[in-house]
Amino acid sequence: MEEIQKILENSLIELEKASSISDVVAVKNLYLSKKGKLSVLMNKMRDLSIEERKTFGKEINDAKITLESRINEKLDKLNKEKLLEELNNETIDITLPGNSLNSGEKNPFYKIIDEIEEIFIGMGYTVEKGSEVDKDHYVFELLNIPKDHPARDMQDTLYIDNETLLRSHTSAVQAHVMEKANGKPIKIICPGKTYRRDDDDMTHSHQFAQVEGLVIDKNINMGNLKATLELFARKMFSKNSEIRFRSSYFPFTEPSVEVDVSCFNCHGKGCNVCKNSGWIEILGAGMVHPNVLKMSGYNPDIYSGFAFGIGIERVAMLRYGIDDIRRFYQNDIRFIKEFNKKVED
Ligand code: PHE
Repeated sequence: MEEIQKILENSLIELEKASSISDVVAVKNLYLSKKGKLSVLMNKMRDLSIEERKTFGKEINDAKITLESRINEKLDKLNKEKLLEELNNETIDITLPGNSLNSGEKNPFYKIIDEIEEIFIGMGYTVEKGSEVDKDHYVFELLNIPKDHPARDMQDTLYIDNETLLRSHTSAVQAHVMEKANGKPIKIICPGKTYRRDDDDMTHSHQFAQVEGLVIDKNINMGNLKATLELFARKMFSKNSEIRFRSSYFPFTEPSVEVDVSCFNCHGKGCNVCKNSGWIEILGAGMVHPNVLKMSGYNPDIYSGFAFGIGIERVAMLRYGIDDIRRFYQNDIRFIKEFNKKVED
């Protein structure tokens, strides 16, 4: 009996000393496993009387239970400490700076499209979509430019087959819209990419973009066209902008005009932006040619209309003082980030 108590005391002292989970497990193995110090005492039972066996057995069992519960308490405590330590080590420091993400910016080209759309939507226009690949029929024929017309030379482009090509101007959308409107009034703009064999200098590119405008109704006249474009120029460039019409030629408009806007930089005095003329050319326009109306099912004696084609890059270059058209397509983030300011009046 004394031996049992001695062993129990020793085991409790060792348990007290154990400072890690593995130390505690070692104590457990040493005393409680099958060949552990307490278990082997059972072998001594053989030498005892039945009476003695009872008390001896109970004594060993009690000792085992005591040790086991103390071991479990200690394991519990050590496990909690371990968890706490892990939690402390894993704490996230929310004051540390995060990994910054590089955000992009809208290309000035698209900013200008947004602004142009906003201006015309404000005047009651809807925005149409056109196709960059189109048929000769829509790009030329229905716009009064038959196969042998010299105006085609200025708009040479890439052909997919004899009848299918990359559109050389957004005017191609005119005939599509008229076809769809089926004789009803029209008031649309259509921004989009266009293609031409045209890359002679820094203001020209084989790919560029235009905004087409088309209005068809009864009693539409040149005064409406001028008022519309003047309002556009004043919203886009400066509230003091003036526009002027110079007579020109397009096969699908009659009369046709080139439209200049007074230089927003020098207000007409002459500077390097306007090449000292005081005026900057921004678009072509005119009254829809009677042949075009007729071909698309409108009676030119009842209906009239105007159309215009604005060069988007040209407007963006003027607005932002950009000197090379290719910069719009190079996607250099340093360049793109530069253009958030409006030219002040
Ligand atoms: N499509 C013409 C061009 O690309 C511009 C234009 C559009 C002229 C509409 C008149 C009317 O040069």
